[in-house]
Amino acid sequence: MGTVLLIASGKGGVGKSTLTSALAIALGRKDASVCIVDADIGLRSQDTLLGVSDSVVYDLMDVARKGCNVRQALVRLPGEEDVSLMAASQFARAKELDAKDFARIIRELKATFGYVLIDCPAGIERSLRVLASSEVDGAIAVCTPDEVSIKDARRLCQVLKERKVKTPELIVNRLNPLLIKAGEMQPAADIAGELHLKLLGEVPEDVNIYRALLTNRRFMDLDCEAAKAVTRIAARLRGNEIQLPAYGSHRLNWLERRRLKKLTEV
Ligand SMILES: Nc1ncnc2c1ncn2[C@@H]1O[C@H](COP(=O)(O)OP(=O)(O)O)[C@@H](O)[C@H]1O
Ligand SMILES: [Mg+2]
Repeated sequence: MGTVLLIASGKGGVGKSTLTSALAIALGRKDASVCIVDADIGLRSQDTLLGVSDSVVYDLMDVARKGCNVRQALVRLPGEEDVSLMAASQFARAKELDAKDFARIIRELKATFGYVLIDCPAGIERSLRVLASSEVDGAIAVCTPDEVSIKDARRLCQVLKERKVKTPELIVNRLNPLLIKAGEMQPAADIAGELHLKLLGEVPEDVNIYRALLTNRRFMDLDCEAAKAVTRIAARLRGNEIQLPAYGSHRLNWLERRRLKKLTEV
């Protein structure tokens, strides 16, 4: 039986979808079979992020309504044989998804895949509660290093606890090592401590994510810090002890000192 993880956040736009697709690719490259379920109904993004929009015929709602079977709604990623996607529906509403139907789909997927990563919509409302079924093995909370996102992550944890989902592990995304060094941004370890969550990963702000989108590539194919960070997260999920980078704690080299000076002059 595979492991089913919710990738969730209280606040929107913190990088859930970006990290879900990248993590799936990283896990696939470590010989795990992975299925991404895009559960952000009405606002689907995984098909675009992964460059497979044209291959999507059936989606999550089609399976839920028994318009097709699970296998028919899976799209395999070209070049990443171990990664499949079940796309969200573009025109349905989140409230149309029935909790029992979703749990049935997840049960079937976890019998086939090593990992099922559920890309959740932001927030703590009904749609999250529907997704947090008893089939879920755990959750990854994503937040950015700002007060609102951290506060919303705390609320998310409460809701997941109410739904009896195991305490999530945390990924802090969009970290800026220089700002942390300058004392203007909280380090990831402090945020995890504040939230009483285990820190699963730290991902830096990385322009290559934007660059990859712009050129229809996947940033996991680029030699960049964000890709390395996600690869480390995948290794940790696979049970390997990989040290966290603790962005902002290392000694700065000459170039970084100059950049920091410029940054703090603003
Ligand atoms: N580490 C990062 N560095 C730079 N941009 C990022 C990073 N993580 C996410 N983004 C950008 O932030 C925006 C929101 O990300 P997205 O994954 O759609 O968030 P969510 O799914 O939580 O709403 C996207 O434009 C994405 O490219
Ligand atoms: Mg999203």
